[in-house]
Amino acid sequence: MEALKIDISKVYGFVPKTDVYTLSEKATESAKALENKTGKGNDFLGWVNLPSSISDADLKDIQQTANKIKKQVDAVVVIGIGGSYLGTRAVHEALAPTFLHLKADRKNPVILYAGHNIGEDYLNELTEILNDLKYAIVVISKSGTTTEPAIAFRILKNHLEKKVGKKASKELIIAITDAKKGALRTMAVQEGYKTYVIPDDIGGRYSVLTPVGLVPLAIAGTDIRALVKGAIDMEKITASSTPFGENPACLYAATRTMLYRMGKKTEILANFENKLHYLAEWWKQLYGESEGKEGKGIFPASVDFSADLHSMGQYIQEGERLLFETVISVGKTATKMVIPTDKADLDGLNYIAGKRVDAVNKMAELGTMLAHVDGSVPNIRIELPMLNEYYLGQLMYFFEKACGISGYLLGVNPFDQPGVEAYKKNMFALLEKPGYEADTKKIKERLA
Ligand code: PA5
Repeated sequence: MEALKIDISKVYGFVPKTDVYTLSEKATESAKALENKTGKGNDFLGWVNLPSSISDADLKDIQQTANKIKKQVDAVVVIGIGGSYLGTRAVHEALAPTFLHLKADRKNPVILYAGHNIGEDYLNELTEILNDLKYAIVVISKSGTTTEPAIAFRILKNHLEKKVGKKASKELIIAITDAKKGALRTMAVQEGYKTYVIPDDIGGRYSVLTPVGLVPLAIAGTDIRALVKGAIDMEKITASSTPFGENPACLYAATRTMLYRMGKKTEILANFENKLHYLAEWWKQLYGESEGKEGKGIFPASVDFSADLHSMGQYIQEGERLLFETVISVGKTATKMVIPTDKADLDGLNYIAGKRVDAVNKMAELGTMLAHVDGSVPNIRIELPMLNEYYLGQLMYFFEKACGISGYLLGVNPFDQPGVEAYKKNMFALLEKPGYEADTKKIKERLA
C-alpha cells in the first residue's frame, strides 16, 4: 500500500532546507518523548500506540453492535461536542455520499449531529424531523458532564422515550464515556444502556480511533478495520526510529515550527475536495486546542477551494503576509466525469471539452499553489492517493503525531486545554449553577 507524502519544497524559498533540518534532532527527540511518555502531558499519551493496540475482539464487538443498530433505524443522532464528535464527522463526511440523505435506496443510516451547539431552533428542527424517522442515539462525553451534549441528550432521550416507549428506547441508546466517573456513566448504568469506555489517557481531540469514533462510524457503514489499518501503518512510518527526512510527522512539525518562528503565525489548511471540510474542522480543534496557550501557537484556519478562492482568495493572495498554507491534495477521485462538447460553445468551454472535471480541479490546485507562493505564502503539500478509510486513517494519525511533536517544539503541553474553562465558569455563574454562588455574585456586580 502507498503512504501519504509530504512535499515541503515550496517552503524553501522562505525558509531554507538547512533551517528546517536544524530542528531534525529536536523533532525526533519529541517523537521519542511521545513514544516513551517522558514529555509534558505524559498521562494523555494513550493515543500514541492506540492503533496497534486495538484488538480484533474490540473491533468485532463494535461491528456487531453497529450491525444490530443499523438494521433498526433510518438515522443515528451522534450527540457530542469538540473531540467527541468532530472525528466522526470528519471521516463520515469525507467518505459517505454527499447526497446520502436524499437517496431512496440507502444502505446505511443517515448521521445527524446534536450537542455541538445550544441552538434552540436547531434542536426544535431536529426533533421535528425525528418525529418521522426511526432513529438511535449515540451519546458521547468523556467527562460525562459537558453542558451542550447533556442538554441535547436530555431532550432527545425524552423524545425517543415518548416515541417508542421507555423499554424500547434503551435498546436504541449507546453511551460512550468514562469507565467510572461522570453523570453520563451514572445514567447509563441506571438506565441499562449499552456502553463503551473512553480510556483515561486519551483526550477528546485524539480519540477518533477509540469507541468515540469507531462506534458511530461503524454504524454509518465505514470500514473501521481499514481506518485502523491506515493508522497502524502511519504509527510505524512516523516512529522516532524513522530518519527525519523520511518521517512525515517530524518534517511537517519542523517546517511549520520554522515558519511560525519567522512570523508566519497563521496556517491555512486548504482542500480542493469539499468532502474534506470537516476534516479541516477536526484538524483546527486538534492544533488549536493543543498549541494555543501561554500566549503562543499558530492560529489554525481552513478554506475549501475552489469555493473560497472567490472569497478568502483575495486575502490569501494580497492581505497581511502572516500566512502559510498546507494543502491536502487528493490523487484519484472515486468516480469519473468528462466535460461534454457543445456544438454552439456559447460558454466558450470547448477548449476543455473531453477533459475530466478533476483534471480542471488539478490545474486550479497547481495554479493556486504557484500564485500563492508568488504572493509570499509558503506551501506545504500533503498528498493522499485517494479518499478512503485506509488513507484517512493514515492522515489522522499523521496529524496527531505531528501535533504532539509541534507542541513539544513550541514548549507547551499539547494535551491540556485549560483555556476552555473560562467561558464555562462565566456561563455557569450566569445560569446560577449550584456551587458557583460566589462567581454569580461577582459576575452580577460586573454586569450591573
Ligand atoms: O479535546 C477535548 O478534550 C475537548 O474538545 C472535548 O472533546 C470536548 O470539550 C468535549 O468534552 P467531553 O467529551 O468531556 O464532553
